[in-house]
Amino acid sequence: MNINMDIIKCKDEDEMSRRAASLVAEAIHRDPHSILGLATGSSPVGMYKNLVKFYEQGTLDFSKVRSFNLDEYYPIQPEDPQSYRHFMNENLFDHINIDPANTHVPQGNAEDPEAVCEAYDLMIQAAGGIDLQILGIGNNGHIAFNEPADHFPAGTHLVDLQESTIKANARFFASEADVPRQAISMGIGSILRAKRIILLASGEAKAEAVKACVEGPITPFCPASALQLHPDVTIFVDEAAAKLLSK
Ligand code: F6R
Repeated sequence: MNINMDIIKCKDEDEMSRRAASLVAEAIHRDPHSILGLATGSSPVGMYKNLVKFYEQGTLDFSKVRSFNLDEYYPIQPEDPQSYRHFMNENLFDHINIDPANTHVPQGNAEDPEAVCEAYDLMIQAAGGIDLQILGIGNNGHIAFNEPADHFPAGTHLVDLQESTIKANARFFASEADVPRQAISMGIGSILRAKRIILLASGEAKAEAVKACVEGPITPFCPASALQLHPDVTIFVDEAAAKLLSK
């Protein structure tokens, strides 16, 4: 167990989303030029809704915020409804006053994806590094598209999607054949460079991954366990996702 991990146990997903959104809002209040690392998937959706609400209430200003997303399918067009760029526009960017030019999602339609990967980490560094990284976690302990493997990928890289991921994600596409076979993903090194990290997990299906992330050995077979090496991680969990934690 890593003493630097702050575990915030919430009653349910609603409370998790509200408390995580308050933490993000406080960070932006403290530094209006905050650089956020953002995730897609179901875990942060409620948090994004709360951030939109703060903006609509006039208590949160995104005009100077910049953002970098964790990952994107490859190949995919940005306007494809399954693209992570589309997801971010729909769930957050289109509803707040962030400058679209300040939002970055790895370019899923690039001709040279390797060049995109190399440029992405450099772009983050040139911007000053991510102040606050938001993460979800896969049932198997993945973070971004870093799946269990025998090593930790360092920087942003092109990933061949595992058969199980293609099958799991097929539900969002017309058919399994339509799921892109690759993705561009920040590496574990890119994620660990963030100054502060928050991870959101809700539902019983995440319980084993949360336990392995917080209490298990640091191993690439549970990519999220690398977070134990980071000095400032806050994990928001609901009761179901927290149920295997020893404390
Ligand atoms: C999304 C991402 C993924 C998800 C993870 C959990 O950008 O990088 O690692 O965070 O697959 O997904 P949900 O939240 O849908 O359970």
